[in-house]
Amino acid sequence: MTTISNVTEKQKVLVETWGCQMNVADSENMLEMLEGENYVLTNDAEDADLVLLNTCHIREKATHKVLSRLGRLRETAKNHNPNMKIAVAGCVAQAEGKKLMDQAKNIDILVGPGKISELPELISKNKTTGKRQLSVGFRDPETKKINKTYSQSTTAKPAIAGKTEISRYVNIAQGCNNFCTFCVVPFTRGREISRTIREIVSETSNLVASGAKEITLLGQNVNSYGLDLLQGSTEEGSLREPFVDLLYQVADVPGLERLRFTTSNPHDFSPSIATAFSDLPKLGKYIHLPVQSGNDVVLERMKRKVTVAEYWERIDWLRKAVPEMAFSTDLIVGFPGETDEQFADTLSLVEKLRYSFIYAFKYSPRSGTAAARFTDQVPEEAKTERLNALNLLQDRITIEQNQNEIGNHREVLFHYESKKEPGVFYGRTEQFRLLRAQSESDLVGKTMNVRVTEANKTALVGDLIP
Ligand code: SAH
Ligand code: SF4
Ligand code: F3S
Repeated sequence: MTTISNVTEKQKVLVETWGCQMNVADSENMLEMLEGENYVLTNDAEDADLVLLNTCHIREKATHKVLSRLGRLRETAKNHNPNMKIAVAGCVAQAEGKKLMDQAKNIDILVGPGKISELPELISKNKTTGKRQLSVGFRDPETKKINKTYSQSTTAKPAIAGKTEISRYVNIAQGCNNFCTFCVVPFTRGREISRTIREIVSETSNLVASGAKEITLLGQNVNSYGLDLLQGSTEEGSLREPFVDLLYQVADVPGLERLRFTTSNPHDFSPSIATAFSDLPKLGKYIHLPVQSGNDVVLERMKRKVTVAEYWERIDWLRKAVPEMAFSTDLIVGFPGETDEQFADTLSLVEKLRYSFIYAFKYSPRSGTAAARFTDQVPEEAKTERLNALNLLQDRITIEQNQNEIGNHREVLFHYESKKEPGVFYGRTEQFRLLRAQSESDLVGKTMNVRVTEANKTALVGDLIP
């Protein structure tokens, strides 16, 4: 008997991603699943059989943004593309659920971050029944089903903004148990569930085999990775902490050149992570360590569970382990009750620590979180003033830090070639600074020695050292 292969026309999917790296990783994951279902990527909504919006709920107006995008898509569908299907994924999908589907009738599929592995099935059910599909909620932490939630990322081209084939993300844990009083993540991503070391190493090896040189391990709090796996386990395990164990094992993957991780929570940060930086050159010389505020009273009310002095202690461990360590951080201004004096402590911390860059945000009340119920909310104008002052200070420091690089020799892993200027390549130094260099030969995926010749706020410029 002969089988006639059924050559079906490819379907087109447009993927739009908001929010953090976990969402970028989820988008890559969903795209890979869809490619398995005969979809290819498009950049054009008019042309898309499916539009997938992967949403973020971290700050205000999140739902509003999604609804306004859905409104525009309704017009596109009406005028150009009547068969367009729309799927909404991510943290707004989880937080708003059915309410969002009631508000926007053009959503065909709604899938929460804990259920993305169901996406192909939901699409197919929608097609066969014509009915709208919804799946939200989390896996039962007892059954530790995260391995089933994540398909193994292997060769899918990272088509999601910001990522290249050279630098890929690997999720190590979902969710968060910390409940910082400002933060919605524990509600949109559920409790922390870790993947196994074996799975993470195997995914890393697959990605490296398909051309990746740099892997960034992702979790909301990578330092508490694996603590859930240890619970109830009677096996004699390694004496190291699970996250540190993971770092050493992933760093061993042959062909991997750089290993990064984010986000590190200072509360669970231990001296052995600093030691890992000095033991494992692949870890580079950079860490993102969110502090949120430079004042202990504010930190206490945020429930960050570390003091400013303890935060400095961690910086000292890292600077001792790697003298040229570069740092970045997240900061919130105008947290409820924050006075001018308390904000001044944040400015002093930033002035003294000398981050390479910061992400600063105005506090945004999130319904359901403890801080949203605090009665001493800070007026919007004060938040704006503080944000401007903080960014102005950091801009000066960023420029100074970058200019201090002039004349230095740095090892740079090149990630991509500029589309607008062929022959111009962009990469990152070990300290994670963006660097551009010109070359007649292709530098993508190569690690080169570079002499820094110029610097501005956003990037360094360098000459290759033969
Ligand atoms: N898990 C990470 C943070 C993830 S959210 C950590 O603990 O460091 C990323 C950043 O968004 C936070 O570090 C914080 O600075 C900011 N953020 C979170 N909730 C916020 C809110 N309600 N208002 C303003 N900024 C917020
Ligand atoms: Fe949010 Fe805090 Fe968890 Fe980070 S550690 S995700 S800020 S609750
Ligand atoms: Fe946003 Fe969800 Fe990430 S709320 S920041 S996409 S975990």
